[in-house]
Amino acid sequence: MTTRLTPDELRTLFLFEALDDDQLALLAEKGEVEHRDAGTVVYAEGEPATCFFVLLNGTVAMSRRVHGDEVEVNRTEQRGVYGGATQAYIGERVAQTYLNTLRAITESEFFVLPADDIAEAVRAWFPMAIHLLEGLFFGMRATQTIVGERERLLALGSLSAGLTHELNNPAAAAVRATSTLRERVSGMRQKLAMIADGRLDGSQLHDLVGLQDEAVKRAATAPALSAMATSDAEDAIADWLDDHDIAGSWDLAATLVAGAVDVEWLDEIAGAVGVDNLEAAVRWLGYTIDTELLMGEIEDSVTRISGLVAAAKQYSQLDRAPYQTVDVHDLLGATLTMMQAKIPKGVRIVKEYDRTLPQIPAYAAELNQVWTNLIDNALGAMGGSGTLTVRTGREDDRLTVEISDTGGGIPPEIRPRIFEPFFTTKPVGEGTGLGLDISYRIVVNKHHGDIRVESEPGSTTFRVYLPIDDQDRP
Ligand SMILES: Nc1ncnc2c1ncn2[C@@H]1O[C@H](COP(=O)(O)OP(=O)(O)OP(=O)(O)O)[C@@H](O)[C@H]1O
Ligand SMILES: [Mg+2]
Repeated sequence: MTTRLTPDELRTLFLFEALDDDQLALLAEKGEVEHRDAGTVVYAEGEPATCFFVLLNGTVAMSRRVHGDEVEVNRTEQRGVYGGATQAYIGERVAQTYLNTLRAITESEFFVLPADDIAEAVRAWFPMAIHLLEGLFFGMRATQTIVGERERLLALGSLSAGLTHELNNPAAAAVRATSTLRERVSGMRQKLAMIADGRLDGSQLHDLVGLQDEAVKRAATAPALSAMATSDAEDAIADWLDDHDIAGSWDLAATLVAGAVDVEWLDEIAGAVGVDNLEAAVRWLGYTIDTELLMGEIEDSVTRISGLVAAAKQYSQLDRAPYQTVDVHDLLGATLTMMQAKIPKGVRIVKEYDRTLPQIPAYAAELNQVWTNLIDNALGAMGGSGTLTVRTGREDDRLTVEISDTGGGIPPEIRPRIFEPFFTTKPVGEGTGLGLDISYRIVVNKHHGDIRVESEPGSTTFRVYLPIDDQDRP
């Protein structure tokens, strides 16, 4: 049996005291009295907001989930307090879900109105107030979104500036090496012509090609010498070249040493080709070593470029589905590569990866943003030197990613505020204070995970928890 309130009874509730008889009659008809037992949930945060509740008697507690913890924000027995679908008047332009949880602490009674009815009534009765409220509401929203977007763009901008710089070095090196290579190859063609002028017989040419092959192998596996050892080796070779009347001995000596050629080997060449052809043969070998080293340099540069491009692709996830199964280590790797230019020389990076972790379903690009924000904070906390540790692991059915730094730590008095939007201790113009707010929303709201922090001077760890199986996702 439903219990209703009379218009006169409704008028005793402060929310309705200014309504006229017709308005009260309508509410009396639409709403009904509901009873709740002590300890039960009246409505729960996040569920569709279908009803508007006014407390008639009893004690209630309102709570909100804050960083994974249920925090009581209000406890009252004041008759007439209200909760539930308080934003129904805005309609479908916002997600109509309960913004907090209400519990009956003692046995309680409520006057309950369907959200649609209260929305319609409020819009019809207070049109001007609605416009003002909407302006306020959407204005705030828009500001937050714009600032959030801007933050993301700035982060991407500074990363791509770093990336451009990173790409520039190997690209310039490859271009330089290629043009030198072109010179060397042309020099080699000329020497080949001289050698093949008929002055070398077939077997000598054969030996020379054999020596060239060996030179290539030596160049590829040449051990790195100390500066001292290098200059000693160059001295010895330059002397040998002088003794054999080969001009320009210094340049040539440097090349030959880089290719791990020694005096004994030069003697062998002299034996193979004879005195007349010695200079041409040695120069030809020099060119061979040079080209080999240059090609190695080009290969390294180009490999580095394609590594960076792959990391940028992995980081931005531009050509991928937003929600997919990923290996977090790939994401962490791409993020670290993208941030390389920002990481000071004095910061040591330690990776402790648990490679047995399964892949997880995730919004990859957004997780990359989380790592970026956490690493950026860690670097900021350490100044120019310290240790950044990136660790992965597992706790029950959740995967964990930890970013730890050896910076000054988070003072206990600001600890409760760091996840607030716009909270920053950085100088004006440096931090927007959105890094952790955005990270929190990505991890908690989008992935149903959690972020925890532990901090003391010299050691701060942000630990991100991500569900390994997230069945309720698309
Ligand atoms: N690893 C850390 N060590 C010490 N303090 C930290 C650390 N991470 C965050 N904080 C503190 O939390 C505050 C908020 O961090 P958040 O990332 O949200 O904003 P921000 O870094 O100040 O600015 P933004 O990220 O927008 O550049 C920081 O200003 C800093 O005081
Ligand atoms: Mg930050």
